[in-house]
This record gives sequence, structure tokens and C-alpha cells, in this order.
Amino acid sequence: MSAAGLADLFSLYSAFPLLASASFSADSPASSGSSTSLSLTTDSLSTEPALLLKAFSSIFSDNESSWEAAQTISRNAREEIGLPNTASLGYGEILPESVFTIMCEIKDVHGLERGGVVYDLGSGSGRVLFAACLAHDFRLSKGIEFIESLHNAALRNKNRWEEHDVVTPEEGGPVDRVEFDFLKGDITKITSRALSPAPTVLFCHATLFDDDLFDCVQVISENCNPGTFFVMITKPLRTVNSTGMVTGIETLSYKQYRMSWGHTTVYLQRRMKTNE
Ligand SMILES: C[S@@+](CC[C@H](N)C(=O)[O-])C[C@H]1O[C@@H](n2cnc3c(N)ncnc32)[C@H](O)[C@@H]1O
Ligand SMILES: *[C@@H]1O[C@H](CO)[C@@H](O)[C@H](O)[C@H]1NC(C)=O
Ligand SMILES: *[C@@H]1O[C@H](CO)[C@@H](O)[C@H](O)[C@H]1NC(C)=O
Repeated sequence: MSAAGLADLFSLYSAFPLLASASFSADSPASSGSSTSLSLTTDSLSTEPALLLKAFSSIFSDNESSWEAAQTISRNAREEIGLPNTASLGYGEILPESVFTIMCEIKDVHGLERGGVVYDLGSGSGRVLFAACLAHDFRLSKGIEFIESLHNAALRNKNRWEEHDVVTPEEGGPVDRVEFDFLKGDITKITSRALSPAPTVLFCHATLFDDDLFDCVQVISENCNPGTFFVMITKPLRTVNSTGMVTGIETLSYKQYRMSWGHTTVYLQRRMKTNE
């Protein structure tokens, strides 16, 4: 698909954010100046993530932007560069279709403002953030990754995204572009344990995180603004602490989703409006 075709695809999708369903048609004459055009119909709910997956796959189509490549980069870094071989640094990804379904639930069931900031703590090759930004018009997308070579892979994926010129139109305003900010860093070193700017949605694939690392994620999450959504993979944030007091975090739903390595539970959680 050409860059213009992808931009059209995404603008058309964004123009109907509340449409219950959409299906992809490659032969509609609807939009001009691109090799691919779209028609939106109301066939079934499940086709909307399929539309997004088509856009995602057209950007991250080469073998170097795959999750397998990221896993290899991570393994090489741990083996060759002699990083501490802690379980926390193990690699696996949530698949883009799972991200799309989760984002649909956040938007359609709970509601999500336009714009906003999405984070991924332990962002790997960044694919979660790119998927999240196809599903919603965030203004800023931030990833924090400890392994430098994975961080560099995320920067290369950012170039792939920018080469495709994905645009998200503001309602009645000019076309806007989401900014990607990838940091090479350690979650445990986040000073003040608060993220800035504050997240609207925070992903954390904590499956292999050890207790100390997970405790940092817990503190960071408790410091987020009321209403912040958390997408926690395998390990949910605690809703009560060790003395039985509420943490201000509630669980909205939990379901099984596909990862690169199998199925696991994904917990959709939220910082409560009041500490009751
Ligand atoms: C299971 S992978 C998840 C990748 C991606 N977020 C996803 O869900 O598809 C977890 C990532 O967290 C990173 N990580 C582990 N400990 C970290 C730390 N202390 N600071 C930053 N990143 C860390 C690992 O290197 C790995 O890339
Ligand atoms: C991608 O494919 C090329 C050519 O087939 C190959 O040389 C390269 O090693 C592959 N890279 C990865 C990360 O699999
Ligand atoms: C448990 O939560 C309460 C209320 O927020 C707090 O005062 C207390 O320090 C917490 N205890 C522990 C062990 O985290």
C-alpha cells in the first residue's frame, strides 16, 4: 500500500470513530489520488480490528520489524553483551490485534478523550505503541526500554511509521501527527515515581517482572491521575495493599488475549476518581 493510501485509510477510519463497525474494500472509488481506497459498511463488530491490522501490517511488513526480530535482538543483548540475566528482561510481545481489541474496549465501553498520552513501560521494539496509536488519536506516545539495542529497534520502527506519513485529523481542525518519544532507561530509576506528562493509558507487559520491578510499576500507577487506564499483562496492579487498604486502582475487566508466546490474561484497570 502506498503512503497516501495508508494516510487515507487512517483518516477515513478516524473520521468515523464511533462507527460500530467498518469493513475494508480495496475497490471502492471513494477517495482519489491513492492506490487504495476504502468503503465503510456496517457488517460486523469484529472487522474493525481487522482494518487496523491491515494498516499495521503495511507499515511493519519487513522481517526486521517483526516481533521475532525484536526477540532475537533481546536474546543477543542478554547473551552477548552480558546484561544481568534476570527474568525481568525476558522478551515477548502482545500482538497488535490484541492491542486493537483492548483499545476498542477502552473507547467504546469506557470512553477516551481525543488526544491524550499513551505509555508502555518496558516498550521493547515499540510495536504496542504503534498499534495503540492506530487505534486512537493520542497526541504523544512514550516508551521506556532498558535494553539499548531494543530501544534502537524502536527508533527504526519510528522511522518506518514516519515514512508512511500516518495522519490523524483533529475534529474540525488541521491534520495532526502523533509524537513518539522512546527513552532508553530503567523503570526503577524514574525519579519521583511519577510520569510526566501524565499518561491517559499505560501498558505494562509485566509477565516476567520480578517483585521489585513490579513494585515500582505499582507506585508509578498509584501516582497517576484519576481516570488513567492501565493495561496490565498477566500481573494486575494491586487494588488493596498489604495492610488491606485500597490503592485507588480498580479492575474493569480481565480477558485472555494472544501474545507472541501464547495466551495470557490482560487486566484492564483504572485509577479511581475517589479513594473509597
Ligand atoms: C515482555 S517485554 C514487552 C514488550 C512490549 N511492551 C510488548 O508488550 O509487546 C518486557 C520488556 O521490558 C523490558 N524491561 C525489563 N526491565 C526493565 C526496566 N527495569 N526498565 C525498562 N525496561 C525494562 C525488557 O527488556 C522487555 O523489552
Ligand atoms: C531479514 O531478511 C534478510 C534477507 O532475507 C536477512 O539477511 C536478514 O538476516 C533478516 N533479518 C532478520 C532480523 O531476520
Ligand atoms: C496501605 O495504604 C494506606 C492508605 O493509602 C497507607 O497509608 C499505608 O502506608 C499503606 N501500607 C503499605 C504497607 O503500603
